[in-house]
Amino acid sequence: MADKNWLNENEKWLKTIVSLVDTELGQSAKTELYDAITKMSGEKPTTVDSTSTHQIVLATTENQNLISHQLFDRLNDEGYIIRTITEHEKPTILLSAKTDKGLLYASFHFLRLIQTKQHLGSLNIVENPKNQLRMINHWDNMDGSIERGYAGKSIFFENNAFTTNLERIKDYARILSSVGINAISINNVNVHTVETKLITDEFLPDVATVANIFRSYGIQTFLSINYASPIQLGQLTTADPLDPTVRNWWKEKAKDVYRFIPDFGGFVVKADSEHRPGPFTYERNHADGSNMLAEALEPFGGIVIWRCFVYNCMQDWRDRKTDRARAAYDHFKPLDGQFYDNVVLQIKNGPMDFQVREANSPLFGAMTKTNQILEFQVTQEYTGQQIDLCYLISQWKEILEFDTFAAGAGTPIKRIVDGSTFENKISGIAAVSNIGNDDNWTGHQLAQANLYGYGRLIWNPDLSTEVITDEWVRATFGHDPEVVEHVTAMLFDSWPIYENYTSPLGVGWMVNPNHHYGPNVDGYEYSVWGTYHFADNEGIGVDRTVSSGTGYTAQYFKENKEIYESLEICPDDLLLFFHHVPYTHKLQSGVTVIQHIYNTHFEGVEQAIGLMERWSLLKDKVDEERYQNVMNRLNQQIENAKQWRDMINTYFFRKSGIKDEKNRTIY
Ligand code: GCU
Repeated sequence: MADKNWLNENEKWLKTIVSLVDTELGQSAKTELYDAITKMSGEKPTTVDSTSTHQIVLATTENQNLISHQLFDRLNDEGYIIRTITEHEKPTILLSAKTDKGLLYASFHFLRLIQTKQHLGSLNIVENPKNQLRMINHWDNMDGSIERGYAGKSIFFENNAFTTNLERIKDYARILSSVGINAISINNVNVHTVETKLITDEFLPDVATVANIFRSYGIQTFLSINYASPIQLGQLTTADPLDPTVRNWWKEKAKDVYRFIPDFGGFVVKADSEHRPGPFTYERNHADGSNMLAEALEPFGGIVIWRCFVYNCMQDWRDRKTDRARAAYDHFKPLDGQFYDNVVLQIKNGPMDFQVREANSPLFGAMTKTNQILEFQVTQEYTGQQIDLCYLISQWKEILEFDTFAAGAGTPIKRIVDGSTFENKISGIAAVSNIGNDDNWTGHQLAQANLYGYGRLIWNPDLSTEVITDEWVRATFGHDPEVVEHVTAMLFDSWPIYENYTSPLGVGWMVNPNHHYGPNVDGYEYSVWGTYHFADNEGIGVDRTVSSGTGYTAQYFKENKEIYESLEICPDDLLLFFHHVPYTHKLQSGVTVIQHIYNTHFEGVEQAIGLMERWSLLKDKVDEERYQNVMNRLNQQIENAKQWRDMINTYFFRKSGIKDEKNRTIY
C-alpha cells in the first residue's frame, strides 16, 4: 500500500494504463503494472483511453508518436525511457523502449518509483543495463534437493521429475525479471544420472514448459550438461572432443534441444572439476572441450558457458608447492585466443571458493581475447547459510570496483565483465541462486535482500550499495523511519560482523568439512582440497609471494602484484591470504595478528547480539511472522558466533601460547 500523502498527490497518474503493445512480453508488462497498481492504490486502473485526466502509456518506439524517435538512439535492446509528458493534450507518463522486453523492465522500474514514493509529475529517465548477460544459476537436483540450498527444496523438481507447481515458477520469473535478470540455468552444475537426461526427449518437453514461463518474462533458459553425455546417453565409447562421432553427436543433440526450445540459451559446463568428466580424460584442453559444444550450438545462436573452477581436488597436503589459488589462471590464461566466440568463461569472483573474504581472481582482465563473465554466490554457503545474516552487496560492490590495471589504471572488474574494456561479444555476471520452496523464498527473510541487490547491482554496477539497500528496505518493510534505519544498519553491518567472528585476515576455510557451517579450524587442514591455513605454534597464513611462496602474486598486474607481494603494504584484511606471518606480526592497524584474532572474535559475538537487540526494537513495527523468522535466526546466529569465538580463540591460544591482552575468557 503506497503512503497516503504520496497517493493523494500522485494517484491521478494511476487511473489509466493504455498499452499499445500486444506481444507476450508486452502483456506481461501491462499485467505487472495493472496488478501492482491495483494493490498499491486500492483501485483498479482502466486499460482503455478513458475519461480520466491523466494516463500511463506503454509503447515501443515504432508505435508511439509522443516523443522524438531520436531519443531512442541512446537505448540498447533492453533499455527504456520513462518520461512524463505534461504538455500533451492528456498528461501522460510514457513507458517506452525499442523492444517489448525493455518495456517490461520499464514497468518494473515504474513500480519501484511508486514503492519508493517518487513524484511522478516530472519523470525523465533513460536506462540501459550495463551488463548483457544477467544470469542466475540453480544448483537444483531432480530429486528435489538443492546443492548448497538453505531455503527448502527445489521449485523446479521433485522425485526425479518436474514439479507441477508452475505458478511458483511463474512467480519466480516475475521476481527475477523485476530486477532485470535475463538468463537462468535450472539444474545443478554437478549433473548426475537423471539430470544428464534433461537434454533428451524424456525431459525436453518439461524443460520447454519451464522455458515458456521464463520467456514471457524476458528470461532465457539454459541447462547444465554432463560432459560425458555421449557415453552416458549416446552409447558412444568416448567423449573425446576431437572425435568426429562425438562432435556429430552433440550437433544432433543441439538440434533436438532447439526443436523443443527455439530460443534456448545454451549449456553451462563444469568440466574437469571436482571429479566431473571433461576433456582432460582425452588429453585435450578446455578450448577443445568448449569449442566442440560451441560448434554444435552456433547454428542456433546458443552459447557455451564454461566454468573456470578447475583445480586439483586430490592434493597431498604435504605438497607445499601446489597452490589451489593459482589453478584457474594456470589452466586458462595460456588458452587465450583459442576459444570460439560463442564460448564464455565463467570465473568465480575469487580464486578459491566464495569465501567470506578472499582475493579477487587474477583471471579478470588477464585474457584479452576471451569472453568472460563473473560468478557470484548468492546462496550463503560460506557466509552463514541463511541462518546468520550476511548482506553480500557490500562484498560484491568491492569486488566489482577492484582495479585490475588490466588496461592501465582505472580498469575495474566491472568494466571487464561488462565487456567494455576488451569489447567482448558476450559478457556479464552470473550467480548461484539462494531461493527454494520456503514460503518466504530465502529461508531468512533478510536474505531476500541479497537476491534483490544482486539483480540491481548487475543491471548497473555503478549503483551505490546505499541506493540498492534503501530500495529493498522500503519496498519490503515500508517507510517507517525507524524500520528503515535499523534494517539498513543491520544489513550494512552484517558482512563485517560475520567476518569478525569467522575468518580473520583473509584466511578462510576454517569450517566444518562438507556442509561448511560452523567452525573447525583444522577441518580441511590435512585434506585433499588444497585449502590450508598452515597454522603452527609460531604463525599462520599462506605464503603466496613470488619471493618465498607459491608465486601466485605474479598472476596479478604489476600494481596489484607489488601490493600483495609486500608484507608492509598488503591490506590487513588479506594478509593471511598472501603471507605466512608470526602471531606477533604487527598489522597496519597497530595490533598484532593474535590480538586481532582475539579482538575480532570477542567483538563479533557482541555485534551479533547487537543485531538481535536492534531487531527487537522493531517488534511492534514488523508483522509477527517476519519478526519471528528473523528473530529465531538471529538467536541461532549468536550461538554460532559464540562457538566460533571460543573455538578459534582457544585454538590459537593453545597453538601460540600468547595470552589475550585484555584477559578475556579463553578456554
Ligand atoms: C563449491 C561447492 C560445491 C560446488 C562447487 C562448484 O566447491 O561447495 O557444492 O559444486 O563449488 O562451484 O562447482
